Amino acid sequence: MTVKTLEGLEEVLAREIQEIGGSDIVKGLRAVHFTGDNAMIYRANYRLRTAIRIFKQIDTFKFSNMDDFYVKCMKIRWELLMNLNDSFVIQSTVIQSEFFKNSMFASLKLKDAIADRFRQRTGSRPSVDTTDPDIIFHIHIAGSNCTISIDSSGESLHKRGYRQSQGEAPLNEVLAAGLLLLAGWEGKSDFYDPMCGSGTIPIEAALMARNIPPGKFRKNFAFMTWKDFDRELYDSIREEVEPTEFGFRIYAGDINASGMLTAKSNARNARVFNVISFSAGDFAASDLQLEGALIMMNPPYGERIRLDDTAGLYEKIGHTLKHRFTGNTAWILSSSPEHFHKIGLKSSSKIKLYNGALECSYQKFDLFEGKRKMLVKKEL
Ligand SMILES: C[S@@+](CC[C@H](N)C(=O)[O-])C[C@H]1O[C@@H](n2cnc3c(N)ncnc32)[C@H](O)[C@@H]1O
Repeated sequence: MTVKTLEGLEEVLAREIQEIGGSDIVKGLRAVHFTGDNAMIYRANYRLRTAIRIFKQIDTFKFSNMDDFYVKCMKIRWELLMNLNDSFVIQSTVIQSEFFKNSMFASLKLKDAIADRFRQRTGSRPSVDTTDPDIIFHIHIAGSNCTISIDSSGESLHKRGYRQSQGEAPLNEVLAAGLLLLAGWEGKSDFYDPMCGSGTIPIEAALMARNIPPGKFRKNFAFMTWKDFDRELYDSIREEVEPTEFGFRIYAGDINASGMLTAKSNARNARVFNVISFSAGDFAASDLQLEGALIMMNPPYGERIRLDDTAGLYEKIGHTLKHRFTGNTAWILSSSPEHFHKIGLKSSSKIKLYNGALECSYQKFDLFEGKRKMLVKKEL
């Protein structure tokens, strides 16, 4: 199986795969490969928080020219994978191929092979549907190597099903879950996101803390249209996970009071409203008393959300953390080194991540006083 993820989350995804029982785990770029049966495919789609999409490998071969490619594709027993009346689509990635100058051409060649095999056997062929196909195949060609896979997820797995409305610049749910796992969040302390927008980070934090799987609210996965889909097995995999009690509190704030309504409604959809305390207001005026908590925020970068005084906002964040939240740990995701410079605190860890196409840094700040002293870069 190949599990796609976001760049920088490969390590946490590999750990997640290990926890659900995957074997032969190998990390790649924006992907992790592992071995497992159909039960593992269902489990992986239902439980992996940092997976974007999961592919099951059908075949892998070398080819010497386009005819050879077609013949090898014709030999695959497509009739075991789909019915004549199933619609399908082929997505392809081609890297440095002397035979396929563009990926569309590889898709067409494979489509011909599938259609011809069915026609030979039944006199008829399944049809292609690019908008709502039953089955999604994927070809990956690198030089003369070809791997053909079937997409088991369908819609990207970041679409959990709880976020029906969103504010400005919402975080991808997979990225939010990745931020939490990178920070070591296990639901063993209080948690605070003072700039929660549509609530993605606190909701993902609450789902983890209560052991609610990310697939809980999703109605469809692509594997449900597979010929061998086993509903009973899928139901038993859903029952493997028991929600747990969470003995701490999650706090979520935002200066935009109307945006908080969105966050609240998303939290209700995710059935975690009762563990999150929402309160609208400026982070700089927050009167929360926290000790040993994990603080996480994704402030505006001044790119997608325009700001009058970006530097001032980051200075305020640093000042508030330093003066109001000692005794806690903070993690901040932002785009520019200049923003971190304005925070004025020295980070103890830095991780490169991407928020969409935007390169970001995710930094940790240990807000402890005393012997280790809070690492202040300059007096604010
Ligand atoms: C990039 S968005 C956060 C998006 C959020 N992570 C999500 O998934 O929807 C930044 C948020 O910071 C909020 N914000 C800006 N300045 C703030 C301040 N001083 N105090 C609290 N929230 C603030 C904005 O209203 C905005 O919702």
